Amino acid sequence: MSNRKTLQKLIRKELQEVKFLVVSNREPYVHSRKDDEIVVSRPAGGLALALDPVMQASNGVWIAQGTGDADRETVDEHDHVAVPPENPSYTLRRVWIDEQLQREFYNGMANEGLWPLCHISFVRPTFRPRDWESYRRANQVFADAILEEAGEEAAFVFIQDYHFALLPRMLKQRNPKLIVAQFWHIPWPNAEAFRAFPWKEEILDGLLGNDLLGFQLRYHCTNFLETVDRNIESIVNTEQSNVMRGGHETLVRPFPISIDFDAHVRTAFSSEVQADMEEWRKRLSLDTSGIEFLGIGIDRIDYTKGIPDRLQGFDYFLEQHPEYRGRVQFVQIGVPSRMEIQQYQAVSEEVEKMVDAMNQKWASGSWKPVIFLRQYFTPRQLIALHRLANFCVVTSLHDGMNLVAKEYVASRFDEDGVLILSRFTGAARELGDALLVNPFAIGEIAEAIAQAVSMKQEERRKRMRRMRRDVEENNIYDWAANILSQLLRFEISSAQAEEEEEAQ
Ligand code: G6P
Repeated sequence: MSNRKTLQKLIRKELQEVKFLVVSNREPYVHSRKDDEIVVSRPAGGLALALDPVMQASNGVWIAQGTGDADRETVDEHDHVAVPPENPSYTLRRVWIDEQLQREFYNGMANEGLWPLCHISFVRPTFRPRDWESYRRANQVFADAILEEAGEEAAFVFIQDYHFALLPRMLKQRNPKLIVAQFWHIPWPNAEAFRAFPWKEEILDGLLGNDLLGFQLRYHCTNFLETVDRNIESIVNTEQSNVMRGGHETLVRPFPISIDFDAHVRTAFSSEVQADMEEWRKRLSLDTSGIEFLGIGIDRIDYTKGIPDRLQGFDYFLEQHPEYRGRVQFVQIGVPSRMEIQQYQAVSEEVEKMVDAMNQKWASGSWKPVIFLRQYFTPRQLIALHRLANFCVVTSLHDGMNLVAKEYVASRFDEDGVLILSRFTGAARELGDALLVNPFAIGEIAEAIAQAVSMKQEERRKRMRRMRRDVEENNIYDWAANILSQLLRFEISSAQAEEEEEAQ
């Protein structure tokens, strides 16, 4: 098991001579103007939260897109700003992407093309040639910034996610000395589903520029290897999980991502969270309304998260179990996300309509079965809500990992609470003590809710204890340490190979 200290030690020992560059589209800290002041906020979504502690340990440079309206005035002449603001420990290098490029690269190619393609969701992926062109250009803009940051020295570049499939090849072509790794945070679809992608060879060639390519699950690695095997000239070794193309080797490995368990638990224990719990109690009238069970869902508003399915499940539960009417309340938090895209607006409206209809159908006296809060909350406020909730529902139709599930478990140091979890999340492979459901089966969700509210304390404790142990033992530092160790081994082995070659 790793922690911040052991990771720091590993980084200090092994990465002393080498620069460590992390690349993602979303920046970890956003500066914006509020009246006359500049405020800093953290974006929603697991990625930035997960990597921040790794960066704080590494002292490196994080290269990401500047999106805040005060981002430009807070960087120096190299587009650098030191973060976190309260305790600067690494450098954020901002990259500027203009509006049209953003529309076509981020909204278009990344989120209307690759996102639905990889999630095999029932929203049809859209592939516009213009978006692909902009995706290529945006990758190029990032490549320039990375090469500038790397300079002439040896450097590790650690790229995040599906926004940058072409970047590894671009980097390697211009500086073969770089060691490049990429983590694909979302699923990789099966080869059959991938057939629809119009620029197969180019995207696969881009990804095979990596020395190491990581996915959440072994299953995604297998899908990727099969996709490569069918679509591009290369030698795929399934047993060793690697690909040779043009004399270059790419290792393909699973690294299930996680959270900073210790820091999360410390926050959960804090007096600030106690205060936030009081706020929630008041806001939800928990002490006066006669509600006995609180259920929660916390998601970005995204059609892959199965929010309508979960509401239908809850509706069916109320229908099937009249004894619980008036006693259970479900709070759904929906953080607005990618709202420029029509399907995201549509799912947001659908959820609002469903909530209204359910409340009209079931409300009685002061009891409303569902409360929908369509807004951003701080991590602390969410931890406070976890601590109050008798059950937490995650019903993604498909999800690479899902960190909400792990966060809920980590918040429950009292070893209480029940997690209802979609089988189609990466997290379900680890958290077998959750109540696992098929999110497409409304009846299963309803029954899981019934089981959650009637579960005996002993059983709740047993399950929660085991899940907590799992998240603690496979935390974000293990994820980072495993990736780094793999990278370091790679460097050593290629150096050895060179020596051997020279000796011959
Ligand atoms: C998922 C993706 C991340 C992304 C996050 C939030 O977790 O894997 O790369 O940052 O969603 O989405 P956004 O588009 O707002 O960055």
